[in-house]
Amino acid sequence: MKLQHLLLSLLLLAAAATSEALVQDFCVADLTLPATPSGYPCKKSVTAMDFAYSGLAAAGNTTNIIGAAVTPAFDAQFPGVNGLGLSIARLDLGPGGVIPLHSHPAGSELLVVIQGTITAGFISSFANTVYLKTLIKGDIMVFPQGLLHFQFNSGKGPALAFVSFGAQNPGLQITAFALFKNDLPTELVAKTTFLDEAQIKKLKGVLGGTN
Ligand SMILES: *[C@@H]1O[C@H](CO)[C@@H](O)[C@H](O)[C@H]1NC(C)=O
Repeated sequence: MKLQHLLLSLLLLAAAATSEALVQDFCVADLTLPATPSGYPCKKSVTAMDFAYSGLAAAGNTTNIIGAAVTPAFDAQFPGVNGLGLSIARLDLGPGGVIPLHSHPAGSELLVVIQGTITAGFISSFANTVYLKTLIKGDIMVFPQGLLHFQFNSGKGPALAFVSFGAQNPGLQITAFALFKNDLPTELVAKTTFLDEAQIKKLKGVLGGTN
């Protein structure tokens, strides 16, 4: 075989491999089946409806203990993002509202402020450095995957933001809930956090924890 023919064959093989990888354009979530570690199985028949979602149009109810609401459009709400490695959520923060210290195990986050003033920050894992910024309409901020972060409404009126994630389901762990909203015994919380037991019992009472 001549070198030219060999090169041509290799190019054709490469082209065939590439087009094969692109045969499946998407994998809209079949929410009737259980999710797997890599997402939901693919729905057999899809329409344009599967790729659009109106669930973020309305403000969330901020009358709650944090004075804020997170309305997700993750794979479980918005099946079109399944398999695409991205998602979005709406944040409504009433005056004084806060999204308490939390982390997303599976994805980084990009926040864009639409209305109001939001003070946001994250804490690095290697030096516990705090990166803090007060943001206004049009500002964006990024929160690297897995790092503890928070947002609070530092303005006078309500605040609105959207957050997108580099994951179809970024996961969410709220530190205060992990410590005070379960049955982990008060002595162990005290032992592992250095907080005093009276404060721990008070927070368990507020958040619905026991022991
Ligand atoms: C918001 O939530 C509060 C507390 O659960 C409830 O009393 C109130 O009716 C809700 N408001 C709306 C508009 O749904």
